[in-house]
Amino acid sequence: MIIVRNLSKSFGSITALKEVSLEIRKGEFYGLLGPNGAGKTTFINILSSVVSADSGSIFVDGEEMDMHTTEIKKKIGVVPQEIALYEDLSAHDNLLFWGKNYGIPAAELKQNVEQLLHITSLENRKNDKVAHFSGGMKRRLNLACALVHKPDIVFMDEPTVGIDPQSRNKIYDILQNLQKEGITTIYTTHYMEEAEKLCNRIGIIDHGQIIAEGTLQQLRKMDQSTESISIQFEKLMGEQKKELVEVFGETTIVNGDTCVISTYQLDLKLAEIISKIDRIGLNITNIDFKKKSLETLFLNLTGKKLRE
Ligand SMILES: Nc1ncnc2c1ncn2[C@@H]1O[C@H](COP(=O)(O)OP(=O)(O)OP(=O)(O)O)[C@@H](O)[C@H]1O
Ligand SMILES: [Mg+2]
Repeated sequence: MIIVRNLSKSFGSITALKEVSLEIRKGEFYGLLGPNGAGKTTFINILSSVVSADSGSIFVDGEEMDMHTTEIKKKIGVVPQEIALYEDLSAHDNLLFWGKNYGIPAAELKQNVEQLLHITSLENRKNDKVAHFSGGMKRRLNLACALVHKPDIVFMDEPTVGIDPQSRNKIYDILQNLQKEGITTIYTTHYMEEAEKLCNRIGIIDHGQIIAEGTLQQLRKMDQSTESISIQFEKLMGEQKKELVEVFGETTIVNGDTCVISTYQLDLKLAEIISKIDRIGLNITNIDFKKKSLETLFLNLTGKKLRE
């Protein structure tokens, strides 16, 4: 449905995108996950014809897209990273404005606007000026504006940034419903939890390049780090340290009063671990799990944390 080939873009000496190629199938919820400055917004801006690429091409439903394509644009909705609302207009009138821009017949537009105000829980505040809205309400309205013409494809650039968990969950519900309706989505984020929760397929982007791509399961397999359990004891004596290594195997690391057990190699369950420790007669003060995640994969691939 969407094919991107070798997209590159530089701003002076800064390479924002370097030969990015992607294929997104109809109905897919594709996540572009990357840290600040990775090139996510540049990618979305090029796809939504706000910025022109230096090279590369984009095909939507088999048709090549350029800055002047208007027919394809009608199929697309864009949620920009920076909130794009008229502060002096009401929620209702903002939606009406965007809808009129797309030339939707009045009766249909009225219906779409009411439906979106309902979905985004803004019905009660629909006649209030946006200037009086909270950050979460603005984010929801920003999302609704992208949907007012009922697009088949939506590009969303970090639509949940800077809002509280409750508003974020509300947006997740809306997005999951869009997914059920079969809307094709490209979604950028720097929250790995979000990518894990929402996306069918994830591309990890850093310094303008896709460095890994796949389903969550495939990406987890790429993660070379081992899953482990770190156990802190009240006090560990020399003999007890030796005993821990004997019981849990050579990959066990004992450091001071802490012991790190690799569960990846031993396939151990927590209950077994605790009962073995009990038999040695040790007191546990803390247990910490290190699980595979997109965060650890990103760390493997780039040597830095996703949020750095
Ligand atoms: N108009 C511009 N002029 C100069 N440099 C730019 C411009 N737009 C983007 N850049 C640079 O291109 C790189 C990619 O920026 P981009 O905004 O696409 O990243 P991002 O992944 O969206 O980051 P964030 O998570 O902070 O939104 C950055 O180094 C940025 O400084
Ligand atoms: Mg951005």
